[in-house]
Amino acid sequence: MAKFKVKDLKLAEQGKLKIQWAESRMPVLAALRAKYKKTKPFKGFKIAGCLHVTKETAVLIKTFIDAGAELSWSGCNPLSTQDDVAAALAKDGVSIYAWHGMNTKEFYWCIDRTLDFKPHLTLDDGADLIFTVHKKYKNLIPNIIGGTEETTTGVHRLRKMAEKGALKYPVFAVNDMITKWDFDNVYGTGQSSIDGILRATSVLIAGKNFVVAGYGHCGSGVANKAKGLGANTIITEVKPTAALKGTLEGHEVMKMDEAAKTGDIFITATGVKDVITGKHFQNMKDGAIVCNTGHYDCEINITDLEKLKKSKRTIRPNCEEYTLKNGNRIYLLAKGRLVNLSAAEGHPSEVMDMSFANQFNAQLALVNSYKSGKKYSIDVHKLPDSMDQDIAGVKLSTMGMKIDKLTKEQIMYNDDFSAGT
Ligand code: ADE
Repeated sequence: MAKFKVKDLKLAEQGKLKIQWAESRMPVLAALRAKYKKTKPFKGFKIAGCLHVTKETAVLIKTFIDAGAELSWSGCNPLSTQDDVAAALAKDGVSIYAWHGMNTKEFYWCIDRTLDFKPHLTLDDGADLIFTVHKKYKNLIPNIIGGTEETTTGVHRLRKMAEKGALKYPVFAVNDMITKWDFDNVYGTGQSSIDGILRATSVLIAGKNFVVAGYGHCGSGVANKAKGLGANTIITEVKPTAALKGTLEGHEVMKMDEAAKTGDIFITATGVKDVITGKHFQNMKDGAIVCNTGHYDCEINITDLEKLKKSKRTIRPNCEEYTLKNGNRIYLLAKGRLVNLSAAEGHPSEVMDMSFANQFNAQLALVNSYKSGKKYSIDVHKLPDSMDQDIAGVKLSTMGMKIDKLTKEQIMYNDDFSAGT
């Protein structure tokens, strides 16, 4: 049996059922599995992964294994691991280091263990694995063909590394694919964040003042879902174009200093730190609910909240009641970590299907580049649009939908720049 550390192997049977449930909703990954099962293009290649251990990730892991890869895996967030899924993977022989509720030291211990097996490829969500390689395991870099990154925050950081010459091997920005960014970030984060809030609080959304910090793809997804449930949605932004989009899409726009006074539910989706701080907590109404759906737990300043508190208790799973010195109660969900993955199960399988098909394709592109001797430059790359269209095409056909094709004349028209009025 492979080396692993999970919470409890006895949970494996329940995890197996969860994985089967996800599998039945991930037809694009199933198609990739069927396509590469015989040829096993990953044979002889080792992938270290650091990505939320969920039922959907398990389906990705199984797809890689069927395509011949050897894997070692850790979770990319201390609260997002589904222990039953981790147990099922360990029982199936996957080298996995992940459990729900680990501390920061344990988090990095798990990453270290996945690097023990000297990977040829890295796969990240949030870039903690690739940072660890660059900081602590530089000796592994000559052996590494490249990496892939799942999320906006991770890609942002890797671009900064590349700009500063700190990046030492090529990376694919999976996040930048249309079939990731326009679906996972919008519909996935939108629905699963509401799911997390509801599982943690069970409150009525209709009629609430629902404040969304950040109107990027994730924030807009959350705001529009909340609006659909009848909330009065308020957007806070720093980017004029995003704020403008928010207002034209029917949300009120204001500064966080103002929103703090009126909000019933707050969710951060910005990717930056200190979006909600002490001065905001002090102005919030009694009973305000505060959570985050950005990758890192820095968006809500919990140190400030701790300083302002008179007392604290866990009132429901993933819901802590802070009674402030001013007498008001603030409810912090999932300790300010990703509410959708900590309090719920993350994005639904149907969207992760496309995101993870991109992960698979990106890893395969790296392996193929190695095999052909045509290496990618050390930078953050995008996959070609044709891969996006392929994934969307398979997804549509599995949903039973057909679309039109351009005629020869239409193609010629498109190519002819002289055609005018
Ligand atoms: N990120 C967001 N949702 C996810 C899920 N269900 N599995 C893995 N990563 C995720």
